[in-house]
Amino acid sequence: MKRIIIYGTKHGATKTISNKLAELFAEGATIIDVNANLEIKEIYLSDYDQVIVGSSIYMGQINKKLKKYIQDNEGVLLKKKLGIFLSSGLEDPMAFENNFSEELLNHSSYIGFLGSEIILSKLSFIEKAMVKAMKTKEYSKIYDDEIFKMAEAFIY
Ligand SMILES: Cc1cc2nc3c(=O)[nH]c(=O)nc-3n(C[C@H](O)[C@H](O)[C@H](O)COP(=O)(O)O)c2cc1C
Repeated sequence: MKRIIIYGTKHGATKTISNKLAELFAEGATIIDVNANLEIKEIYLSDYDQVIVGSSIYMGQINKKLKKYIQDNEGVLLKKKLGIFLSSGLEDPMAFENNFSEELLNHSSYIGFLGSEIILSKLSFIEKAMVKAMKTKEYSKIYDDEIFKMAEAFIY
């Protein structure tokens, strides 16, 4: 069973979640940061049985490169066991509908919010101002139980 987790992160929460997810698989998983251009170009999705994609959300949008990658490879993804997770402060279910096609969502074996974090020292000046305006404080909520549930859906 070959698995790959392809993620898009800006400040690291989605990377943390992806690593935790991969650790739960006895056979492990290939983990790819979609922003690492060289790596993403070298992926052959046909080599994998299961594909999990995950992204954080900024201004309602998932990572742009991940969105493009998913659109470009939708045909192949529809033939794989697929999972989608989001790392989002609002956890608005519409975020899935707004960022992924209906076909992909219907085809997915599992979709979920696996936690999020805002660490002020990692944010740009503008981001800090936006977070302040939203009256949000620094936090880290990585949902280990939800990560476990998602992993289970891909083990059995
Ligand atoms: C400037 C800014 C804008 C954000 N916009 C949204 C948003 O529109 N919707 C949402 O659900 N979460 C939003 N978030 C929360 C992030 O999605 C959350 O912090 C996520 O865990 C970050 O993941 P990352 O570290 O992998 O980039 C925002 C956070 C920041 C700092």
